[in-house]
Amino acid sequence: MKVLVLGAGAGGGFPQWNCHCRLCQGARNGSINALHRTQSSIAVSDDGNKWVVINASPDIRQQINARPQLANAEGARGSAIAGVVVTDAQIDHTTGLLILREGLPMDLYCTDVVRHQLTHEFPLLNILTHWEGGFRVHSIGVEPEKAFQVEGVPNLRFDPVILVSKAPPYSAHRHDPHTGDNIGLKITDSRTGEYLFYAPGLAEPDDNVRAAMAGAACVMVDGTLWQDDEMIQNGFSDSLGTDMGHLSVSGSKGMLALLSQFDRPRKVLIHINNTNPILDEDSKERQKVKDAGVDVAFDGMEIDI
Ligand code: MLT
Ligand code: MN
Ligand code: ZN
Repeated sequence: MKVLVLGAGAGGGFPQWNCHCRLCQGARNGSINALHRTQSSIAVSDDGNKWVVINASPDIRQQINARPQLANAEGARGSAIAGVVVTDAQIDHTTGLLILREGLPMDLYCTDVVRHQLTHEFPLLNILTHWEGGFRVHSIGVEPEKAFQVEGVPNLRFDPVILVSKAPPYSAHRHDPHTGDNIGLKITDSRTGEYLFYAPGLAEPDDNVRAAMAGAACVMVDGTLWQDDEMIQNGFSDSLGTDMGHLSVSGSKGMLALLSQFDRPRKVLIHINNTNPILDEDSKERQKVKDAGVDVAFDGMEIDI
């Protein structure tokens, strides 16, 4: 299986267009050693020809144009995208569905809860029915969790993992969590049995998460914030990371501490917010991540599993 990072940043990307924090300024003017990152999305493939896009960011047009393997197709119009899966209804994971309208109809996989959010609260699926009928929506079962496949990519199996995180700020579920608001995915290559565990928004490492991490060949997980009060410290928000559905990277109960409990998987942080000091490759925080044997995803990163 091939895993391709389309966007390693969190919502807003890096640098964020209206942000003048030390990191965004430094990335903009080149005074720090940091790669720019577009917003949160990956693609997976069993043969390198047909790809499943997981999370459709507002940067998807730029992301596809930057990766010829996704743009490739025979005929006058088309792409190498077999289908799209979204793990929640967050703006940074779904706005790209609007950008894909020229390619409709297309298969989309999401939970019923997310489908409800995308038809009633942020009704882009209704709007898109005016483009060749819109997305063909397939339900991802979460009660109980049900594996699914995407047509055109026969060797990959997708298993939803129920996550404790947060529904989008616009949703009635923001403070009333429902199963299916947020899922992670175990993506297994059925030829080898090896899998990627992908979870860009993860607030609580419960037994589901631990089990998924323990057996994975690679984990690609929430690296949004270095510390829980990072947005408050920067003066950008009153919310802790955990209020927003993100477990911080540092701390005795943070992501690095959690990852240190598992020897087997390759470990990669993704969905990195523009306030996170690990973006600066010369920072002491980045060194700590390196010392823990953990990689920081970047746009264009490729992993073979
Ligand atoms: C998140 O991951 O918490 C959201 O995508 C934030 C946002 O709305 O940009
Ligand atoms: Mn996000
Ligand atoms: Zn910033």
